[in-house]
Amino acid sequence: MADTDGVETLNQQYETYPYPPRDPADEANRLVTGSPSQLAELNHYVFAGRRDFSKPFRALVAGGGTGDAAIMLAQQLADTGGPGNVVYLDLSSASRAIAEARAEARGLSNISFYSGSLLDISSIAPGPYDYIDCCGVLHHLSNPSAGLKSLCDVLSDDGGMGVMVYAPLGRNGVYHVQEMLRSFDLSDSNPVDQVAFARKLLENLPSTNWLKRNSLVGDHLNEGDAGLYDLLLHSQDRAYSVSELNTFIGEADMRITTFIAPFAYDPSHHVEDEELASKFETMSWIERCAFTELLTGSLKTHIAYLVKSKRGDKSVATVDDTDLAPILVGLEPKSAANALRDKGQLNAELEGLRYSFPITHDECAVLELFDGHRTQKDICAALSVLRTDFSEKSATQSFRKLFKVLNGLNLSFLRKP
Ligand SMILES: C[S@@+](CC[C@H](N)C(=O)[O-])C[C@H]1O[C@@H](n2cnc3c(N)ncnc32)[C@H](O)[C@@H]1O
Repeated sequence: MADTDGVETLNQQYETYPYPPRDPADEANRLVTGSPSQLAELNHYVFAGRRDFSKPFRALVAGGGTGDAAIMLAQQLADTGGPGNVVYLDLSSASRAIAEARAEARGLSNISFYSGSLLDISSIAPGPYDYIDCCGVLHHLSNPSAGLKSLCDVLSDDGGMGVMVYAPLGRNGVYHVQEMLRSFDLSDSNPVDQVAFARKLLENLPSTNWLKRNSLVGDHLNEGDAGLYDLLLHSQDRAYSVSELNTFIGEADMRITTFIAPFAYDPSHHVEDEELASKFETMSWIERCAFTELLTGSLKTHIAYLVKSKRGDKSVATVDDTDLAPILVGLEPKSAANALRDKGQLNAELEGLRYSFPITHDECAVLELFDGHRTQKDICAALSVLRTDFSEKSATQSFRKLFKVLNGLNLSFLRKP
């Protein structure tokens, strides 16, 4: 059964302010992509890169909002030419109407739309699902554990989930403003009046206020009334630290296979002192992630892939599986290789922090062959034939070093071609 506690207010919010704000006419110009749930990414972190999308594949987007994940996933599945399809579910009919209009604008016929609570999914659109996307929803439920359990119950034993929940440190100041707004008791006002009131408070924040000082958070400034409401006036909103999230997921007999992007959870990129850095080797992976969250203080959300604990540890693709092919996301291999050859380094920004990695000419030669079809084995063999100065061993070393950087920045994944 759906939880009734707070559901009325939540419904009113998303009927008035479908989130995120989207215009179906924009589908003609761009596909909104992101993490989690890009096909190549979920294949890498849930199916060890070996999922064959020419076979049936059933995904659920739980709390699909205005459709970002459902549209991206349905489009990417349609592009494979396979029979994969998506079930969209949300409580808000206004959000569903936008998502449906977006699907229609794209001519997508592989999404089924349902209205209702994810707590009732097993009766609304029963499983099993191979994959479930649940972004920005669990942290709004009065009983997140019941929500996760409900999803887990319809997830296939060899499937997985992509989730996004809020993180506390990067949202510093958000909860202070939420608390101030609650003290005005605006519960009898409609959402539009609440937004007007919140804007007044924002105009009067002194320069020392934590939200004002937090340059990482901008939804209230850049995402219109819907963004402001979602950030500051939400009736139910909690954040999870890495440790809290790990416990929450573990209690559902699931485990986290990765956080996105992996480098944002790796303390070694920020600590140069060798004695300090050596301590990281004594920590478990999840302890290092928790440490990095405290160290950087910049994580606003956690994006994670999950699988059932009983699945064992074979869910993430690895470079030891040399029959997998690297695929570059959003970049064309030849032009990316040329740009990196000129610069000699790869610069990136993750969660407000800058990263820089030296890239050699040999690695650029490897990168040119990241076409999504050639396997690691093919690439290394081809290079050792093409270039007399490249042995298969040195090509493999260059491949692995380059892939580690690109994958850590969420720019490349492995898949069975
Ligand atoms: C912040 S929006 C996120 C939308 C979308 N997942 C995204 O990331 O773009 C949260 C959505 O969850 C929906 N929602 C909240 N509780 C729900 C529940 N129990 N069952 C289904 N949908 C729910 C809301 O209606 C809203 O559309």
